[in-house]
This record gives sequence, structure tokens and C-alpha cells, in this order.
Amino acid sequence: MAQAEIGLIGLGTMGSNLALNIAEKGHTIAVFNRTVSRVDEFKANAGALTDRIVPCHSLDELAATIRPPRPTILMVVAGQAVDDQIANLRQVLSPNDIIIDAGNADFNDTRRRFAELAGTGLTFIGMGVSGGEEGARHGPSIMVGGTQESWHRVEDVILAISAKYNGEPCAAWLGPDGAGHFVKTIHNGIEYADMQMIAEVYGLLRDGLGMSAKEIAPVFSKWNDGRLNSYLIEITAKVLEADDPATGNPVVDIILDRAGQKGTGKWSAIEAQKLGVPATAIEAAVAARVISSMKTEREAAQAAYGRTSGNIRIDRDRLFHDLELALFAGKIAAYAQGFAVMDAASKAFDWNVPLPTVSRIWRAGCIIRSQFLGTIADAFSSGSVANLLMAPAFVQMMGEAHPSLRKVVSIAAEAGLPVPALSAALAYFDGYRQGRGTSNLIQAQRDFFGAHGFERIDQPGAHHGPWSYSA
Ligand code: 6PG
Repeated sequence: MAQAEIGLIGLGTMGSNLALNIAEKGHTIAVFNRTVSRVDEFKANAGALTDRIVPCHSLDELAATIRPPRPTILMVVAGQAVDDQIANLRQVLSPNDIIIDAGNADFNDTRRRFAELAGTGLTFIGMGVSGGEEGARHGPSIMVGGTQESWHRVEDVILAISAKYNGEPCAAWLGPDGAGHFVKTIHNGIEYADMQMIAEVYGLLRDGLGMSAKEIAPVFSKWNDGRLNSYLIEITAKVLEADDPATGNPVVDIILDRAGQKGTGKWSAIEAQKLGVPATAIEAAVAARVISSMKTEREAAQAAYGRTSGNIRIDRDRLFHDLELALFAGKIAAYAQGFAVMDAASKAFDWNVPLPTVSRIWRAGCIIRSQFLGTIADAFSSGSVANLLMAPAFVQMMGEAHPSLRKVVSIAAEAGLPVPALSAALAYFDGYRQGRGTSNLIQAQRDFFGAHGFERIDQPGAHHGPWSYSA
């Protein structure tokens, strides 16, 4: 009876596209969906791939259709729906079968599910998938967490459906339990920072120089041919060029300035804080989305304080050059933060996440794909560094780019235009490279009000200051 090599539950856009991708690579796939009518509709619309799709109308049928060890992909909304499906699958699957959660799960949930399933005989894999609808259909970047043994049981299919960068699959096993979902979360955190910094530069061009969307588009196109070359810069140019069919205006001008978020950016910031790793550019990007959602309050504040003139009076070509370098410097800082968070999590959870591999599998398929990730992979492969900012290639690139970041942040501050992620990136860099900072004063204050003690520069041990504690 068993006819399929793999199963998939959840035929939303991502699930449908992933199923078609799997079928296209020659695998027969059994599919199930909570709204069961979707299953036959999906097969009917699968075109030439229909013969490799086995529609199942119940979980019992799904289990009977997939050949043991029954790898079964869940592509359902993260959260309770995943727990519900796992509970249902436990009724129909057998020991050794493999449940693969391919949604954007919180890695804490993945770790919990992994522990809950340990001992049941079922194997759990937490698999981050990036690339949106298009990636799911034609090749996403895939970040796998689970036992290495379970990876070996599914790797042929996973490698086959993944994006390829110069022929190399953009999929890999990154460590036990939550490692894959953690790396996917940080991918998204970096995605937030990248997008926010691009939006900040767009704001300087639109409000500071008064440029139209059509005028800004070629600036991004040109940058896409240089060091900023990446999917996000490429689509920014395309977005800015597009017209709204209803009004004929640039579509970007009719979109409300209120950005949504599903949680991964926020989780990146939370986990960074928990691990004690500064990820300020990512945090700033998350906060900027929150401020964007406060549309009514922002309008009231603009009425109360007045609108800043925003005008930037400066040679345009010079500014374009500085903006390109500023974006690059901001990007370096944001990626340095994201990788530092992954490194800390890897140590805290004993995952041994291979950072060069992470960079390599992000070179194609995922939303933050870019050649820059190849440079990061080389930096991590050529020796251990405390932070990406300390890799020799990055010392050189950041050395060249940070003066422009400084200039852009100060121009924006003068003009009253918000650049929170770029500012955070600059402050992170300046703080990181300051041999003697100012926390000697913080220590003195802590000792003054709480007798917390401090270390001296000239003697070992804990010391107190010569202050009296009577307020
Ligand atoms: C990806 C995307 C994908 C999705 C995010 C968007 O890697 O393919 O990041 O995961 O688009 O969920 O996240 P927000 O809705 O939070 O912006």
C-alpha cells in the first residue's frame, strides 16, 4: 500500500510549493491538509507533477501511504498548531518515524518538542526554511536541527530540494534539537536589520533629498552591481520601480507605513538579550517596526512637535557614495551581531553550530542571500575570531566604510530623519573598538549607591570608593 517516500501536512502557499519542489525532484509525496478538500484541489492543479502527488484524506491514510520510516513534514502555522499536529501524528505513526517541523518555530518550542518526543521512538527534526514562496518552490535555504542520524535519513531529499550556490546545496545539518530553528530565527533577525537599514537610506533619499521612488530605484540598482549586491537590494529597486495599476502612482507611495511582524525578529532580540550578546542593530529594527505600527500616535506627535524640515543640502553624488558605504558598514555590524548571537547560543546549548556552513548555506535561496555571505564564510573558515569585526578582511572593509556610516548618521540626525538601525550599528562599532570605555563611572556609581565594589586598574581584587553612604 505504501507508495510515497515522504509526507507533508499543511498545503498553504509554503507547504504547497515545498511539496511541488519535492515532487519535481523525483520523489513521490503524500499530502494532507486540515481542510481536506484542499488535498484533491492541490493534486488537480499539480500539472505534470500530479503523478507524484498522493492525496490523503486522513492522517491514517497518510501514515499508510508513506514508506517507513515515514518522514513527515509539518508546514503549519508556528505555535499550537504544531503541537496539535504532533499529538495527532503520535496516534498514527510508528517508532522510528520522523516528524519534521519546517515552519518558523521558536527554538525553545523545538527543544521542548524534541524532549517530549524522546522516548516515544519518534524522531523530531526542527528545520528552518528560508526563501519565501519562490524559494520553497524552486530551492530554499534549509537549516536542519536534530540528531545527526535523523539528518542522514532525510538528507537526500533535503539536499535535492534546496537552492544551489555554484552547484553546492544550500542545506545542512547544523546541530542537535533547536539548532536549525535558532539559526533560522537569527537569519530573520538579520533580515529585519538589513531591511530596516535599506528603508532608512530610502527615507534619507525620499525626505532628505526629495527624490521620487522612480529616481531612487536606479540608485539601488546601481548598488546591486557593487559591494551591496544582494537579493534585498535587488528587490528594493524593483519595488521602487513598480506602479500601482489602480492609480498609476508608484506602488510604494500608496502603501501604508506600518510594517507587520510575525515574531522571529523579536525572538532574535530576546534570545540575544538572554545570552548577553549585543544585537543592537537587530533590536533597533524590531523597535522600528513597533514604532511604525503606532501610526496614530506618530501623527499626533508630528502635530505636537512639527515636522522636521528633513532637507539635506549636500552634493548628491557624494551622498550616494557615503550612503552605499554606510549601508555596507551597517550590514557588517548587523551580521557581526547575528553571528555572535549564534556563536553564543551554540556554546550555551552545546550545539557546535558550524558558522562557515551557516554562511555558505545562506549564499543562495534565502531572503538575505548575497555574495557578502561568501566573504563571511571565508572569514570564519580561515581561523577563529572573537567577532566578525575582528576578521582581517572585515577590519579592512569596516575601516574603509565606517567613516561614511558616521557621516550619514550625523547628516540624518541634523536633518531630523530617523536612522535607528544605522545609528545602533555605528554605536556598536564605536563601543566595540573603544579600548577604554566609560563603564568605570558606572562601576563607581554602582559602588556608591549599592556597595557593589569595583576592580582597579593597578591592583587585583575587589575595592570600594572613598564615599560615605549617607544620602
Ligand atoms: C524567509 C522569511 C520568512 C517570512 C518571515 C517574515 O526567510 O523566507 O524570513 O520566514 O517572510 O516570516 O517575517 P515577518 O512577518 O516577521 O516580517
